[in-house]
Amino acid sequence: MNFAVLASGNGSNLQAIINAIKKKKINANLKLVVSDKADATALVRAQKAKIATCTINPKNFDTREDFDRKILEHFKEFPIDFVVLAGYMRLLSPYFIQQYFHKIINIHPALLPSFKGTHGIREAFAYGVKVTGVTVHVVTEDMDAGPILAQEAVKITTKDTLESLTEKIHRVEHRLYPRVIDWFAKSLSRRQIGPGRL
Ligand code: GRF
Repeated sequence: MNFAVLASGNGSNLQAIINAIKKKKINANLKLVVSDKADATALVRAQKAKIATCTINPKNFDTREDFDRKILEHFKEFPIDFVVLAGYMRLLSPYFIQQYFHKIINIHPALLPSFKGTHGIREAFAYGVKVTGVTVHVVTEDMDAGPILAQEAVKITTKDTLESLTEKIHRVEHRLYPRVIDWFAKSLSRRQIGPGRL
């Protein structure tokens, strides 16, 4: 199975994925990393690991769908079987989602359906919840709302700061996401797509 990662920022999850592939903990091929930001550290991480990269500037496209069609053009080269979002800050067009129906997954730094959106860690901390966590889910047209594949809880103690909580969340993400990706690739190759146990 070939997959692509879409990332806009630091790429620490991408790094965890690259490391897991090296250790053969993910049995699928990461063929391409796509970014909408030329200065994303994720691109540097991919290049160090000798993975093909491409940057596509949203400013060069009139619509979200046109932008996404450009990504799909790049996919054809490999071709890409499934897509992993790792800190990708753009919404995907319905067209893209249809092309990869139930073959796109995302990681979210909170226990969905709580704290959707881009500030899941900060908002959970500010709200004062005692338990938050990490969710991996299938991407559908509604933001942060597709079928849940895996979740792991993270406790917030009175000693936690936003920084310490952020670290805890990332640690869980870096452990959980590679496991789910490996499982997802296996279930796709057996054509048994859908929520399941790790
Ligand atoms: C992660 O917290 C992920 O859950 C969220 O965006 C963040 C990306 O971090 N979707 P990184 O770029 O992988 O370091």
